[in-house]
Amino acid sequence: MLEHDVLVVGAGLAGMRAAIAARDSGANAAIISKVHPVRSHSNAAQGGINAALTDRGDNWEDHAYDTIKGSDFLGDQDAIEVMCRAAGQSLIDMEHMGVTFNRDDEGKLGTRAFGGQRVARTFFVGDFTGQALLHVMFEQLVKSGVQSYEEWFVTSLIMEDGKISGVTALEIRTGQVHAIKAKTVILCTGGCGRLFEPSTNALIVTGDGMGLAYNVGARLMDMEMVQYHPTTIAGSGVLLSEAARGEGAYLRDRHGNRFMEKYAPNMMELASRDVVSRAEQTEINAGNGIDGCVHLDCTHLGERFIMEKLPQIRELGIDLTGKDMIKEPVPIRPGMHYIMGGIKTDIDGQTNIPGIYAAGECANVSVHGGNRLGANSLLDTIVFGERSGSHAADASKGVSFSNFNPDEVVANEERRLQEILDRPDNGDRWSKIRREMGDSMNRNVAVFRTKEGIEETIEELQGLKQRYSSVPVHNKGKVFNTDLIFALELGFMIDCAEAIAISALERKESRGAQFRLDYPNRDDDNWLKHIVVTQGELGPELSELPVTITKWTPEERKY
Ligand code: FUM
Repeated sequence: MLEHDVLVVGAGLAGMRAAIAARDSGANAAIISKVHPVRSHSNAAQGGINAALTDRGDNWEDHAYDTIKGSDFLGDQDAIEVMCRAAGQSLIDMEHMGVTFNRDDEGKLGTRAFGGQRVARTFFVGDFTGQALLHVMFEQLVKSGVQSYEEWFVTSLIMEDGKISGVTALEIRTGQVHAIKAKTVILCTGGCGRLFEPSTNALIVTGDGMGLAYNVGARLMDMEMVQYHPTTIAGSGVLLSEAARGEGAYLRDRHGNRFMEKYAPNMMELASRDVVSRAEQTEINAGNGIDGCVHLDCTHLGERFIMEKLPQIRELGIDLTGKDMIKEPVPIRPGMHYIMGGIKTDIDGQTNIPGIYAAGECANVSVHGGNRLGANSLLDTIVFGERSGSHAADASKGVSFSNFNPDEVVANEERRLQEILDRPDNGDRWSKIRREMGDSMNRNVAVFRTKEGIEETIEELQGLKQRYSSVPVHNKGKVFNTDLIFALELGFMIDCAEAIAISALERKESRGAQFRLDYPNRDDDNWLKHIVVTQGELGPELSELPVTITKWTPEERKY
């Protein structure tokens, strides 16, 4: 019998941090992930992690203000306070666990500047900070003795009387279906980036946790807030870290001009991401780009500096564009990178469904609002991963396991999966539907949006949903049936895409990452609020929640 007090789904930074915290709080904790933990998407985080250390003359309130301003005042200020107060200790904890952060000339932890922040408070390991953190966290996970179900794909959440009681999962290596009982489940499955094409996100980032939670009644909030990162490679969508601009790189148009002067004269290339991406797209649309891109110019930084601080993105630039940033500018463009929205939680990771928690990118504790600051996502995973794990462990004390019959649950789930495998081979493949969805989202729900464009995508999504209901699976085998898994993932992706598009249509203003050409101004009187999507009888239903303001009054945002 598989049963755990706390079962964490997803083994990136948030998931592993949550599982370790739950175990430290005395819970029988386990982690389940469709990939091996060190293959999680946290690996891809490049530039760093933010923290305001007081012995550097920095303070958490300045960090909070920059974060709130970055969010275009949509972030909940109580949650942002929690994150920014905890940041320093979380950073030191990671250092003590063994992360070899870059040091400055005095041997102290080094920082670099990052967008939307008035001081350099981003701590880093070269330009592969996420990978460094993830590997250290994995060591801690192994040390902690947390049970790990690696390469198991969660197919559904088991509910009883409106409460979570476990999950069903497909063991990918064998094709066996399992039922795992759990008193609490923490969803840490990452974002849903791949429902846009292209995206900086790994192919595994398919909105599984959001889809699972949404299907049992959880609330998705701020889904319209999708971040386009200013420096991605055209075609592949691969990220070239903001660290480049943090270390002094310039953005130039086809004439060599640093066009950010027009859009953010004070912060220039280090304005917040939404502002920089819009500026780039405006220049590209005006014919000032180079083959649909603008240039990231690092040539003045020098070879030694680039090799020390930005070695990974130099290699990526060479491999994917043929340009060596030491010698020449690299063409880049805005590309889908992150979703600020997600499963609505409180500051302890609790959702509206008893026993279900969420942390990391799949969650929305509301620390990013309309636009996330670079390097606040790693921080979010660590702070709220830990809080969720501790809270879930405490909540599971004194609670009994459900007495559902696992054999029955497994038999039902096997039947459901078999029905998918038995479908006639006359529908479109999941890959075709996924591609069409990605193209549509990237065409109409991107940096600039209009009513007509969003409506077109909503209509296309309806058609794709219809076609998805008969999607065939060619591989009928048991062992590593990724054909089946990709088909299941697509269901979660379509739910997320629909939530994003209808929220974008609903918000009739421009704020943060949502820029409506038909409503170009921010409208605090009518739209200083969160948009919430829940699954109703007839499809998605919209509602609203207020934004929590503590002491920072909304003001016009200028960089
Ligand atoms: O540009 C970057 O290094 C990305 C960092 C982030 O999204 O936090």
